Amino acid sequence: MKFLVFLGTVRDSTPPKPARLGERVAESCLKCLNERYSEHEFELIDALDFPSEDVFKPHFAYAKSQAPAHLTALADKITQADGYIMVSPEYNHSMSPALADLLNHFGSSLFSYKPSAIVTYSAGQWGGLRAAISLRTFLSELGCLPVSAMVHVPKAQEVLNSDGSMQEGEEEKSWFNYYSRTFSQLMWWAQASSQHSKNVDPHAMLKSFKTAPSQRNAP
Ligand SMILES: Cc1cc2nc3c(=O)[nH]c(=O)nc-3n(C[C@H](O)[C@H](O)[C@H](O)COP(=O)(O)O)c2cc1C
Repeated sequence: MKFLVFLGTVRDSTPPKPARLGERVAESCLKCLNERYSEHEFELIDALDFPSEDVFKPHFAYAKSQAPAHLTALADKITQADGYIMVSPEYNHSMSPALADLLNHFGSSLFSYKPSAIVTYSAGQWGGLRAAISLRTFLSELGCLPVSAMVHVPKAQEVLNSDGSMQEGEEEKSWFNYYSRTFSQLMWWAQASSQHSKNVDPHAMLKSFKTAPSQRNAP
């Protein structure tokens, strides 16, 4: 199976230090994923590679031939993936605005009926827990339901080196066991949804809303 690891920070400046703490968190997750789930493929999608435009225009708002190539390439990857790992910092007790902005460019039909896993971190002691709560709601609306276990890395600058390796005194095995509770749930659900989608195409069974949000309304 294929999984995308979204890194939701574009904060390439200080203070507070260090900037892009999320890089090391994403690298640490990738190391765990590649070591423990090596039969699958994992690709990092860095929000910094998708700078936002002056005026927001989602991928689905373009005529097919007019859409920016980098957004079309990402849309194809999202479509082909079996699941998603969302790595988000906590900004003002909320999920990363950069991650929300990037994900908002794509329709929920690209993500739906596939599971996601939430990884949050912060420089402080709560590990981005409040960001995780808002991210749960967000991902549910996209249709890539988050698995129940989540990863939170408090004081990530004291746990991980800038390359994602563990700092002295931190035990990689314990951390990877902790990550794996979430990642193993993700694998189980991804396998289940991928198998079942082959038997019953969810998009044929349930048409996506394409014109107006009111299509969701009660009669
Ligand atoms: C605008 C802003 C808001 C922040 N809000 C929170 C917060 O609500 N909770 C928290 O634990 N840390 C907060 N922080 C501190 C971040 O945890 C810390 O800066 C971390 O490095 C952010 O991740 P990043 O470097 O990958 O962007 C905030 C940082 C910024 C820049």
